[in-house]
Amino acid sequence: MGSLMYVVLLALCLTVSAQQCLPDFERIDCLPETGASEQACLARGCTWCESGADGLDVPSCYLPESYGYKIDGDVETTPKGFRLTLKRNTNISYFGDDAETLNFEAEFQSNTRLRIKITDGTPRFEVPVEIGAASGGNANPLYEVQTSNNPVFSFKVVRKSTGAVLFDTSLGGLTFSNQFLQIATRLPTKNLYGIGENEQHSFRHKFDQYYTWPLYTRDQPPNSNDNMYSVHPRYTVLENDGSAHGVVIMNSNAQEFITIPSPSLLYRTIGGILDIYFFFGPTPENVVEQYTEAVGRTPLPPYWSLGFHLSRIGYGELERMIAAVNRTAAARIPQDVQFGDSEIMERQLDFTIGPAFKDLPAYVQELKSKGIKFIPIQLRDPYGQKLPVIFQIIPSNPLGNGGIF
Ligand SMILES: *[C@@H]1O[C@H](CO)[C@@H](O)[C@H](O)[C@H]1NC(C)=O
Ligand SMILES: *[C@@H]1O[C@H](CO)[C@@H](O)[C@H](O)[C@H]1NC(C)=O
Repeated sequence: MGSLMYVVLLALCLTVSAQQCLPDFERIDCLPETGASEQACLARGCTWCESGADGLDVPSCYLPESYGYKIDGDVETTPKGFRLTLKRNTNISYFGDDAETLNFEAEFQSNTRLRIKITDGTPRFEVPVEIGAASGGNANPLYEVQTSNNPVFSFKVVRKSTGAVLFDTSLGGLTFSNQFLQIATRLPTKNLYGIGENEQHSFRHKFDQYYTWPLYTRDQPPNSNDNMYSVHPRYTVLENDGSAHGVVIMNSNAQEFITIPSPSLLYRTIGGILDIYFFFGPTPENVVEQYTEAVGRTPLPPYWSLGFHLSRIGYGELERMIAAVNRTAAARIPQDVQFGDSEIMERQLDFTIGPAFKDLPAYVQELKSKGIKFIPIQLRDPYGQKLPVIFQIIPSNPLGNGGIF
């Protein structure tokens, strides 16, 4: 009897603790900084529950379901959508300085474009990229936006024709503090493409564990899973019926996306606002058209720029560059363009030529006589800033950051 009682009690305990643990892939990390411990987790007010899954990067410390904001007051209709006020519903804070109230605005910019903007009502940095007007009117949007306030505020973006839920923020609440903003969404499928720039081993993202994809213009060459030169906080998802939608988050601070097997996607940034554009396709080509209508289209590149380019740093001196061009010709590889990297310059100053390349002007003439173009790379933009710092979603120059001699 005693041992039966014990078994029943044990079973009860197990049920209770199992109920308290969120499933592995519903968890949003409450201690993303280093040094996670149960003590630090509980001190922050979060839930600690070690996952049985090994090596999948499942957080043991995660946000409780009451974490986030609640709708405060009534929905206000605006000319192209609606807006809400949100009030903070938690005293849990990651890094302090959380906004107590937020403005949430849904703007139905066209039948195929939606903008969701979440701000704290104070002036904060917004990416100075001009967004083109959306064509086609907004009388019959392909989508609708639904909000929920239980257990906290979340919103859903639904494709009307199929009922597919394309975006659903009902996990992890919402974080909007001075230097840490975070929002998560459930995804309709695992067919997620984009989130550049980083090296991945397939175009379709991996979803077998929690993966973090930092977006930061570090000017870093391809290294497995690392961030590289540019920042493109956008993705495309193929839905179950083959429809596609695209999402871009207009933010140029250091940021990251985390893919979660549920499948879900977690987004974090350390500044700015949450300014999210949706493009509803429905074909992938339509998504690209709608996206480029918003951010601008790539100019048609000159024909020769699509040819064979020889571009590297490390020649050290002009003679070795000439030898490489010679070898290319000797191997009968056609060459349309030769690049000069920053090593051709005097102290890496644009528009200068250093001693090791002092005879470059004459060599460029020689290349030109053979029909080969020469591109010196350019380190700074005309306004004097180092290029990678700038959020470049509009390619201002089809040749990347080069000029042409
Ligand atoms: C949050 O508030 C609750 C109730 O007001 C309190 O019990 C709890 O200790 C607070 N937690 C933190 C981390 O301040
Ligand atoms: C490159 O080829 C030219 C033409 O054949 C030759 O004059 C020159 O010496 C070569 N230079 C080097 C560095 O290989």
